[in-house]
Amino acid sequence: MILQKELILPCGAKLQNRIAKSAMSENMSPRHHGPTQALIHAYQRWADGGSGLLVTGNIMVDRKAIGEPGNVIVEDKTDFELLQQWASVVKDTGLHLWPQLNHPGRQAIGAVNKDVVAPSAVMTKVKGVSALFKQPRALTETEIFDIIDRFGTTAVILKEAGFTGVQIHGAHGYLVSQFLSPLVNKRKDQWGGSLENRARFVLEIYRNIRTKVGKHFPVGIKINSADFQRGGFTEEESMEVVQLLGAEGMDLIEISGGTYEQPAMIDLNRKKSTQEREAYFLDYVKKVRHLLKTPLMLTGGFRTVTTMEKAITEGALDIVGIARPFTLYPDLSNRIFDGTLTHLDIPTPKTGLKMFDTSGFIDILWHEIHIQRLGEGKKPNPQLSAYSAIGHNLSTTMKKLVFGLPFFQGATKRGF
Ligand SMILES: Cc1cc2nc3c(=O)[nH]c(=O)nc-3n(C[C@H](O)[C@H](O)[C@H](O)COP(=O)(O)O)c2cc1C
Repeated sequence: MILQKELILPCGAKLQNRIAKSAMSENMSPRHHGPTQALIHAYQRWADGGSGLLVTGNIMVDRKAIGEPGNVIVEDKTDFELLQQWASVVKDTGLHLWPQLNHPGRQAIGAVNKDVVAPSAVMTKVKGVSALFKQPRALTETEIFDIIDRFGTTAVILKEAGFTGVQIHGAHGYLVSQFLSPLVNKRKDQWGGSLENRARFVLEIYRNIRTKVGKHFPVGIKINSADFQRGGFTEEESMEVVQLLGAEGMDLIEISGGTYEQPAMIDLNRKKSTQEREAYFLDYVKKVRHLLKTPLMLTGGFRTVTTMEKAITEGALDIVGIARPFTLYPDLSNRIFDGTLTHLDIPTPKTGLKMFDTSGFIDILWHEIHIQRLGEGKKPNPQLSAYSAIGHNLSTTMKKLVFGLPFFQGATKRGF
């Protein structure tokens, strides 16, 4: 089976097989935003499942900028022992575990952020849930340099903790992707305007990380094939940026697409024909394949082993990225390799209210609950309704928000 073939990355590291768990925000770390035992346990279950590469949910590089109330934050060595425990789930297995490094920029839940920043002061607007976001202010150049440096600092702490690589989150409308988008980046300085200027932020982040982790440590990126928004980052621009990243020495480029405003990455609004063809961004990746030699990973929609095998056999991509099915089938790679799993069936929970069902938030909540179930050692519940998912999320979010308040943070530090 071609999915079982190893892959050597440009830095020399080896991926044991061609299936990767793509990043899914676990949102399981309220209070101090360090890894919890439940989070580590979820990764133990995924590590036992035999996938060559596990990418963690996005980890924040700055305590002042939190995407969701329960994100892990790594900006210093506060939680170093827990990070070591987390990394140890792949110790001596030859499997890879790469934290995904992120700064949310304007796509940050307002309730957990005092000050929201972005390349320019352009607000996030998502039908039905815009109230979750705050008006951002434009970053100063000093702040831009500080954030670039933070990516490198976080990467090196995680390397020292035992993680085997890192991935930059350059997709889905977060800060790196905001810099690339002419819709959000209206800057007139060296960070905005031409594509060369808009791409400077991501290139500087890569260089900062590379300088700090050395040339033998895997550094990858997840990037949009396009934002799918009028006036946003286009497919042609994405192809140029991907080539620049490849030329810099990136080890693995994962292709996705969309933003909170246009959630193409989880494909809830697309035409049926695309879903039937499965992999959403396959056409794009086929075009990119001819432009560079860097290993390519494609994520979004893979559901049958036949399609996965075909995509790799045809040479369109090197690694199959899978996200949502991993919450129901933590051991999907082992089961694919032993022939007991050929289709990954997952439900699409719906409320019946278009405004919510098309935003992607329900889907995300539903899968986050399933990651938590994994961490608690529970079995998946494919029958869980959209409304139960909302109810569960409201109660846990309230707890996270309450415990995130300064009084409770002080109280928990005092052992209360
Ligand atoms: C609960 C959930 C959380 C996600 N969090 C992240 C994230 O932190 N970083 C990221 O790059 N993508 C994230 N994604 C997107 C997935 O990585 C992936 O691109 C998307 O789900 C499409 O792949 P799939 O069809 O195999 O699920 C998330 C998706 C879900 C469902």
